[in-house]
Amino acid sequence: MTYQFGLIGYPIKHSLSPWIHGEFLKRTNLQGTYSIVEIDPNVSFEEEMRKLRSMNINGFNITVPYKEKIIDFLDDIDEQAKKIGAVNTVLCKSGKWIGYNTDGNGYVRSLRSSFRSLKEGKEKKILLLGAGGAAKGIFHALIQHGYQHVTVANRSIDKAILLIENHPQCKAITLKEAEQTTDQFDLIIQTSSVGMKPHVDQAIIHLTKLKEDAIVSDIIYQPLLTKLLKEAESLGASIHFGHTMLLYQAQYAFEIWTDKRPPMDDLDTELQNILE
Ligand code: ATR
Repeated sequence: MTYQFGLIGYPIKHSLSPWIHGEFLKRTNLQGTYSIVEIDPNVSFEEEMRKLRSMNINGFNITVPYKEKIIDFLDDIDEQAKKIGAVNTVLCKSGKWIGYNTDGNGYVRSLRSSFRSLKEGKEKKILLLGAGGAAKGIFHALIQHGYQHVTVANRSIDKAILLIENHPQCKAITLKEAEQTTDQFDLIIQTSSVGMKPHVDQAIIHLTKLKEDAIVSDIIYQPLLTKLLKEAESLGASIHFGHTMLLYQAQYAFEIWTDKRPPMDDLDTELQNILE
C-alpha cells in the first residue's frame, strides 16, 4: 500500500516534518507521501476538515494554531491527549479520526534515549520552566512515565498551580524561586518561547549553580544552542537539544500510523546539520 500523510497548520511552509517522515518511510521500506496542507486562519476550518475527510489519507499531524480546534472534528481521542487538551496527530482508520498527542511522550522518549540514568531514575527532581501548551504535554508525559517530583515554574504562577492540580507531590513556584534553587534539580526542562529570539531574549532564568551531573534541556530548536543551554554548558551540565523532541514526536506519530518504529540511527546528527 501507499500511505498518505500530511500536516495541517499555519504557517508551515518551512516545516521539517516532510523531511523527517520522508526519512522514516525510507528507513522502514514503506511507500508513502507526506504533504503540507497550509490552512489560512481566515478560511473556514470546518470546510477544510470536510475536504480532508473526503480524501483517502491514513493520518496527519496538526500544529499551531489548530491543536485544540481539531478536537471537535474527531471521532475519538486518546486519554493523554484529552488530559492535555491538544492533539498533534490524527489516525484515520476505517472512516474514523482518532486524536493523539505525541509531543510530550516524544519528548520524554528523546530524553530517555539520550540519558540512560533517566530510565531508572524515577526519583529524579525535575524543574519544568513554563506552563503553556508545550509544558502541559511534557508534564503529563513525565507523570505517565512515573516521574514523581516535578516542580513547575512559570511567570504567571496561577498557570503553574493549575498544571500541577491533582498532583500533590508536585510543586508550583515563581521564576525567581526557580533561579534561586537550580542546584536542587537533576533535570531542568525549558518549555517556554523565551530564547527563540536570540538577539533580544535573555535566558528565562540564569543558571548560576547546578547540581553535579545535572541535565539541562531546552525544547527550542532554532537556535539549537540557546542562552540557557550555553550557561548550562559553561557550568559543566549535560545538555539536551530541542530538535530531538521534533524527531521523537514524529517517530511516535509514525508508529501510530504504521505500527512500525523507524530506526533513528544518525537522524539526530543529520537534523542538527540542517538546523545549524
Ligand atoms: P506553547 O504552546 O508554545 O507552550 P504558550 O501556551 O503560549 O505556548 O506558553 C508560553 C509559555 O512561555 C508560558 O509559560 C509563558 O508564561 P506565562 O504563562 O506567564 O505567559 C512563557 N513565556 C512567554 N514569554 C515569556 C517571558 N517573556 N518571560 C517568561 N515567560 C514567558
